[in-house]
Amino acid sequence: MQIFVDSANYREIEHWLRQGVIDGVTTNPSIMLKDGVYDIEEGARRLCALLGSRPVSIEVTSNDPAEMLEQGRAFAHWAPNVVVKIPVVNEFGDSCLGVIHQLASEGIRVNTTAILSFNQGILATKAGATYVSIFAGRVADEGNDPATIVRAMRRWLDEWGYAAKVLVGSIRAVMDVQNAAMAGAHIITIAPQFLPKMVDHKYSRETVRQFNQDAEKALAQISQLRVAR
Ligand code: E4P
Repeated sequence: MQIFVDSANYREIEHWLRQGVIDGVTTNPSIMLKDGVYDIEEGARRLCALLGSRPVSIEVTSNDPAEMLEQGRAFAHWAPNVVVKIPVVNEFGDSCLGVIHQLASEGIRVNTTAILSFNQGILATKAGATYVSIFAGRVADEGNDPATIVRAMRRWLDEWGYAAKVLVGSIRAVMDVQNAAMAGAHIITIAPQFLPKMVDHKYSRETVRQFNQDAEKALAQISQLRVAR
């Protein structure tokens, strides 16, 4: 399973890359704004260079299919590891599957975003998406179970031999990460604030403290024995 960072924060991403647990990055216009990246091209190029060959998802910012296509093609020229994020529908509910299909047929990797149902995931896959981004937190906001959708999506992809990957985003708590992993997500994209919570545990700290204290006691014993000789 891969872990992406759901962020445009250069320092945070750099930090978690150094920990050896990061396989890619996802962004969206809200994340860019929150992280102070106002120039999408400059920010995207910088992140892509930092990530090397790992994928970086950059989202289009238009409702118009022609503009989405134009932006998608332009993004793909910024760096070889750019993945173009296209919503499954625009804000008026018009299908964006044609845009996904066209970009995919031009060899541009597409991350289909804002997926809230299994049916949307099926269609995004058929259209040629490389990544099918299921928004777990937003699915749960509507009173539905994200794990059911993730499990169904993964099973369907495997059964029919599609290469698309189930990417679970909209993580709201560390428990969501475990649930997505158990449901069969290929990738989970996690905002940086959850990563320290995933790694830390008060009893791990306590355990290490006990070992360090006993190591100090052992050293003290050695010194005493040397003095006694
Ligand atoms: C995923 O690629 C998205 O950027 C993100 O997870 C969206 O989540 P949100 O519900 O926090 O906006």
